[in-house]
Amino acid sequence: MTALTLTRRIFVAGVGMIALSVATPSFSAETGPVKIGMIGGGVVSTNLAKAWIKTGHQVMLSSRNPESLKDKVAALGPNARAGTVAEAVAFGDVILLAVPYTAVPDIAKEYGKALATKILVIDASNPIPDRDGEFAAMVRKIGVGEYTQGLMPGAKLVRTFNGFTAVRFAEGGKKDGVQMGMPISGGDPRALGLTTQLVRETGYEPVLVGNVAFGKHLMPREPLGPEMSPDEIRRIAATLK
Ligand SMILES: NC(=O)c1ccc[n+]([C@@H]2O[C@H](COP(=O)([O-])OP(=O)(O)OC[C@H]3O[C@@H](n4cnc5c(N)ncnc54)[C@H](OP(=O)(O)O)[C@@H]3O)[C@@H](O)[C@H]2O)c1
Repeated sequence: MTALTLTRRIFVAGVGMIALSVATPSFSAETGPVKIGMIGGGVVSTNLAKAWIKTGHQVMLSSRNPESLKDKVAALGPNARAGTVAEAVAFGDVILLAVPYTAVPDIAKEYGKALATKILVIDASNPIPDRDGEFAAMVRKIGVGEYTQGLMPGAKLVRTFNGFTAVRFAEGGKKDGVQMGMPISGGDPRALGLTTQLVRETGYEPVLVGNVAFGKHLMPREPLGPEMSPDEIRRIAATLK
C-alpha cells in the first residue's frame, strides 16, 4: 500500500495552529472500496450509506430486527444489505456507530474486542440529555469522546458526522453553492487518513480539529455543532480547549 503524506492542521487549545506532516495511507483509488458495517440503520446510517454507495463502497446497515430494514436496503441498491449488529461488525473493515447514546455501553461491552481490530470506528452518536436522560448529562460532563474511548479501549475511534442534520450528509456538502466543512476528531493516523477520504467522498471538506476528546465540541448545541465552512470551523476550533 502506498503511503501518502498528508499535511494536517491541528488546533491545540490556547496554543494556536500547528501544522503536522503525518504519513497516512491513502484509501482512494489505490485500495478500492471498503466494506462499511453500520451499527444502526436509522437516519445517519441511511444518509451516509447513500453517499458512500455512490463512491463504490459496500455497506451493511443493522438493526436488532434486520427484517425492518428490508425496504430501505432494497432502495439503496445492490451494494447495501441488512444484518444484525453482530453481522455488521463482522462485515465491516470500517464501522460506523450511529445509535442512541444509551445503547453505546452495551454495544461496547459485547463488541469492544472486535471493534478494536477494525481500521476505523466512526462515532456519529451523541449523548442528548432530552432524549437519553441523566446518563447523557453525565457523559457530556466527562466529554463524550473520552467516555466512548474508555468503553472501547484500542478502537481507532474518530468522531465526525455528529453536529447537524444527517439528511445533509447525502446532499453533496455545499450550501447555497458554498463549500461546507466537516470537523473530525481522532488520534490514529491511519484511521484519520481513511476518515478524511470518506468525509471527502460525501462532498464535505474534512477539517481535523483535535484528538478524540476534542470531539465533545462537535455535537448539537456545542460550538462545532452547526454546519459551517472549513474556515469557520478552524476559527472556532482555535478558541476551544
Ligand atoms: N439524525 C440526525 O440528524 C443525526 C445527526 C448527527 C448525529 N446523530 C446521532 O447519531 C445517532 C443515531 O441517530 P439516528 O438519527 O440515525 O437515529 P435513528 O434514526 O433513531 O436510528 C437509530 C438506530 O439505532 C438502532 N438501535 C437503537 N438501539 C439499539 C441497540 N440497543 N442496539 C443496537 N442498535 C440499536 C436502531 O435500530 P433498531 O431499533 O431497529 O434495533 C436504529 O436503527 C444518535 O446518537 C444521534 O444523536 C443524529
